[in-house]
Amino acid sequence: MAERIHVTAPGGDYDILIESGILKNLAIYAGAWGKSVVVTNTTIAPLHGESLAASLPKAKLAVVPDGEQYKTLETIAQLYADFIAAGLDRGSTVIALGGGVVGDMAGFAAATYMRGVRFVQIPTTLLSMVDSSVGGKVGVDLPQGKNLVGSFKQPDMVLIDPDVLDTLPAREWRCGMAEVIKHGFLADESILDMVNKNPSPSSETGFSIQPHPPTAFASPQAERGGQSGKVELIRRAVQVKVDVVQRDPFEKGERAHLNLGHTFGHAVEQATHYQWPHGEAVGVGLLAAARLSSALNLCDSDIPERMEDILAHVGLPRRLNGIDPEAIYAAMATDKKWLGGHSRFVLLRGVGQPTIVEDVPKETIIQILSDLQ
Ligand SMILES: NC(=O)c1ccc[n+]([C@@H]2O[C@H](COP(=O)([O-])OP(=O)(O)OC[C@H]3O[C@@H](n4cnc5c(N)ncnc54)[C@H](O)[C@@H]3O)[C@@H](O)[C@H]2O)c1
Ligand SMILES: [Zn+2]
Repeated sequence: MAERIHVTAPGGDYDILIESGILKNLAIYAGAWGKSVVVTNTTIAPLHGESLAASLPKAKLAVVPDGEQYKTLETIAQLYADFIAAGLDRGSTVIALGGGVVGDMAGFAAATYMRGVRFVQIPTTLLSMVDSSVGGKVGVDLPQGKNLVGSFKQPDMVLIDPDVLDTLPAREWRCGMAEVIKHGFLADESILDMVNKNPSPSSETGFSIQPHPPTAFASPQAERGGQSGKVELIRRAVQVKVDVVQRDPFEKGERAHLNLGHTFGHAVEQATHYQWPHGEAVGVGLLAAARLSSALNLCDSDIPERMEDILAHVGLPRRLNGIDPEAIYAAMATDKKWLGGHSRFVLLRGVGQPTIVEDVPKETIIQILSDLQ
């Protein structure tokens, strides 16, 4: 039986189903989908896309190039052409099979094609399972910046099959773990216990892309406990996001808490000209946020200590390795959330106690960043 999380959303309620092997039985759900197009990319098509589309009698495959640089209006235009060629009408369904890039684009195309058609999310990265496939934000980048065009489009269903993670590069797994850890500190301590109790990927060194499947949660007991452990970890991490977006569907308030570690993280991405992937930048950003929380006496020093330990356990970076603190601060100051130049951080009073703090002195931030060298 699949784990089921029901989501109440302004555009209509939907279910998130999580089950190992669920994609092999997709036809059960596909009866109501009409004609469909499975949107995926060149990497995922041969791994999972072709077999999935072949299992759906009325489905065609639309394959986009792999990479954030293709999350553009040009690719959306190509998708519209693919939808027309496949004969999609208003009763049809767009299925996103991929990570956040594919999900954001397929969702935006589904929101706008014929003023909106049915949309099913099948996330294939850990990040997209626990983060981007939930909450209805879809869109594309412009040359001027990321995610500048988009809308809210709630999916009709989200199907999560942890088996697809077996082909995910270890580095992408770790990047998703940064969001899982964020959700643990925001709202669910048991997530942190689960992550800490599972084997660390200690055999891997550095942050290069590993040709092996991820080792965390592929424990020696994988045959018996591994997949169900993954299902449970994903279920809990998804639930944290669901709880937040249900209370704040249009990002008016509490949803800002999901930016924990992201003010620092985005600035690190920018300061390194996106040489640091998002998840790794968020990892060190989470540590910076935890240390700042403690420096401002919002919480005890055990919070940054626990953060550092768990990041080390999953193999995420804890140091800035020479990135200039002034460059990071300058990047932060361009953040559109820093209203009128006032700094704004999501910090922690403890696990499960996020809080927003404004006007932190620049010297304090520079000190935190210098200590992370
Ligand atoms: N809509 C939202 O609320 C939201 C939230 C967070 C992030 N995002 C967006 O999500 C995007 C990042 O998503 P991501 O981290 O999933 O990156 P991604 O979609 O680029 O996927 C990462 C890489 O993994 C590959 N891949 C995906 N699944 C695979 C699998 N099962 N096996 C092998 N390879 C696989 C992809 O082809 C890609 O090369 C960004 O564009 C970001 O803006 C959106
Ligand atoms: Zn993130």
